[in-house]
Amino acid sequence: MRHLMSPLDLSVEELDKLLTLATDIEKNPQKYAHACEGKKLATCFYEPSTRTRLSFEAAMLNLGGRVLGFASADSSSASKGESVSDTIRVISCYADICAMRHPKEGAPLVASQKSRIPVINAGDGGHQHPTQTLTDLLTIRSLKGRLDNLTIGLCGDLKFGRTVHSLIQALIRYPGIRFVLISPEELRIPSYIREDVLKKNNIPFQEVERLEDAIGDLDILYMTRVQRERFFNEEDYIRMKDFYILNKAKMDLAKDDMIVMHPLPRVNEISVEVDDDPRAAYFKQVQYGVYVRMALILTLLEVEVC
Ligand code: CP
Repeated sequence: MRHLMSPLDLSVEELDKLLTLATDIEKNPQKYAHACEGKKLATCFYEPSTRTRLSFEAAMLNLGGRVLGFASADSSSASKGESVSDTIRVISCYADICAMRHPKEGAPLVASQKSRIPVINAGDGGHQHPTQTLTDLLTIRSLKGRLDNLTIGLCGDLKFGRTVHSLIQALIRYPGIRFVLISPEELRIPSYIREDVLKKNNIPFQEVERLEDAIGDLDILYMTRVQRERFFNEEDYIRMKDFYILNKAKMDLAKDDMIVMHPLPRVNEISVEVDDDPRAAYFKQVQYGVYVRMALILTLLEVEVC
């Protein structure tokens, strides 16, 4: 039995197979429509979500399976003090696979150690968000045609943005990857990513503050929201929240084939006037998230479709 806690739980070869499966699902959805009949997915979300929870549920329904779960800690027995270890033992009696989001780093890992069913980390605090990374990789591979030889600008809250941490760790395994880390001083990438992931693996990167200085060099601009829920005080959040706003004027400085990605939800960091730009890929990214989660469910449940 396998779990998914980090994108690094999958080798590059396994990842390639999973993304190829997701692309086949995109092209031939009917072929997979009954693949998980009789199977159940539990979504255990201790933190708010729109995309991750609903795309997991859509993925399982598209595969012919069924779904159950809770959408907040308050509506589960966590509010009475139940631990994630006990909860997953219970969920193991009800479902075949579980997607879990939790505000505490490492909580899905703790759950996986007591689980009788595969557990997928659907986001743990400011740590990792591996299925967003799978979504991002499928988007990049589908729209840019490759996962290597790319210059990727990561912009916004690089300190708390878990999607950025997972994406960097996944992309450094491909040749010719270069990062431009665009953030205010207070929201710079954590030192463990800078030192232990980027420098240790000799990955070229630069850190800049102004988006205008970097945007012209990028193949991909990955915008992020300032993560209000991880700030210790509201004043700091208000000071930081509109530090970056991607608008038409800034898009005019970018390459014609650059794509703009965002894990969403967006607040103000991408102006709605950018939505109609053919380089805006963030709503396509949402659709890829369903295909890749379908592929992940099939892979972890070891369901083969011929
Ligand atoms: N991208 C993402 O994780 O969105 P949700 O918080 O809505 O799940």
